[in-house]
This record gives sequence, C-alpha cells and structure tokens, in this order.
Amino acid sequence: MTLSHEGYIGVFDSGVGGISILRELARALPHEDFLYFGDSANAPYGEKSRDQVLRRSRSIVDMLLDEGCKAIVIACNTATSVAAAELRGEYAHVPIVGVEPALKPATLTPGVERILVMATPITLRLDKYQQLAERWGGGHEIVEVPCPGLAARIEQGNLEADDLGALLDTLVGSYFGLVDGVVLGCTHYPFVSHRIRQAVGDVPLFDGACGTARQLERRLADRGLLSKSKAPGEVEFSSSRDTSEELELYRSFFDLPL
Ligand code: DGL
Repeated sequence: MTLSHEGYIGVFDSGVGGISILRELARALPHEDFLYFGDSANAPYGEKSRDQVLRRSRSIVDMLLDEGCKAIVIACNTATSVAAAELRGEYAHVPIVGVEPALKPATLTPGVERILVMATPITLRLDKYQQLAERWGGGHEIVEVPCPGLAARIEQGNLEADDLGALLDTLVGSYFGLVDGVVLGCTHYPFVSHRIRQAVGDVPLFDGACGTARQLERRLADRGLLSKSKAPGEVEFSSSRDTSEELELYRSFFDLPL
C-alpha cells in the first residue's frame, strides 16, 4: 500500500464548514501538512440519523488513515457529538481531536450573560452538548436554537445573497438586540459571521477553532508527533463530491476573510 499522505493531519467535516477550523490549525501549526476531506455529497449531517453520521465518520477516518494520516481532527460539531467517543475507542493508537460548541469561552467572557447557541438539531439533542451546557451554563441564560437548513445553504456558497439573510432572520432574527453573545456551534457558521451579526446585533461570536488547534497541538506533543520540519506545511483538499468546482469552492472558503 502506498501511503500518499504519510504524516499528514486528516481533517474532515460534512462539507465546507470544517475549513473554518482548518484555517486556524494551519495558522497555529504552520509546519504541519493537512489533508482536508469534505463530505459534501452527504451534507448536511445535522439532520441525518445518528447511525448515518457514525457510519460516514468511521469510513472517512478509515480512508484518512489508509492515506497515512498521523492524527485526525473531526472539524464538525455534529460528527464529534455522535462519533468521537466511539472512534477514539476503535482507533486508540491515533490522536482524534474533536470540536465542541464554545460555551466555555462564552460563559467566561465578562458581560456575556444571555447567550444564543446556534447549532445543528443533532448537536443540540445529544448528551455531549447537554453535559457541556450543564457544566458551563450555570448563572447564564442559554438560549439554544437548532438551525436546520443553514449548513446546507452555506454549502452552496454565494454568502452575500439575500436569501441567506432571510433564512437567518427566520432562525434568529427574533433575538435581535436581546443577547450578549452567540456561540457558533457548527463549523459552517463562522463563514456567515457578518450575516449573523446583521440578524442578532453586533455582539461577540464564539467558535471552537482556537480551542481545537490548542488541543491538537497538545495531543501531537504528548505523543511526540509534532512535525520537525521548518518548511511551510501543505494543505490539500478532497471531497466526496469530487469535481473541480467543488475543490475550487473549498479553496475559496480557505482564503475568505472572516
Ligand atoms: N459543520 C458541521 C457541524 O459543525 C455539520 C453541519 C451539517 O452538515 O449539518 O456541526
């Protein structure tokens, strides 16, 4: 078997969303090589069954490990909630880092009392999020808003279009001026941060990218897996919707100013 991406860090999501995490990983660990896989042919995950998301996650991890990846980042809140614990049990020899809604930094920010949490329906339903909310939510008012349709709409690109603003108004517009901060509990949402602020007001937004990068660095260091190279790392994109247009879309999301 040829391991064509030996020593890379495999990063995956249901589609373009995980690129918001990948950007931070590549910034924080500039000498690492990354292989990104977006499962756009099967997006969105957030409205699928638990079993479907688990099956897709397992087969993507298999594929990334067959490529020779030394670590995996599940750059998807939904897949992390569904699959991280099981995958860590099955692939104990590989560091597997997930992402979670950034409730902790939000609740630790002075002045942020009433917090809107936007995420996929599955993420908000599962125990992992419920435990997080129990751990960090005390003393705050947490308003959870499942956002069906939003990740799928972001997958289509064209992020300045009117229909996206209308969708956000329908989902969260009723909270305009009524919250102190918003947790972006899906990795697709940072790409529409400016549109979310238009819908809810100019408040701080919290996402899991920095926490995930710190965790990945720790896990690689613990196992002596950090790259020893001094050269800039590579970032490669692949997708289950394997067309040149799709890969071009991924690259454009990687370069978008956030
Ligand atoms: N970006 C993913 C997340 O963080 C999944 C969105 C979806 O496919 O529904 O939850």
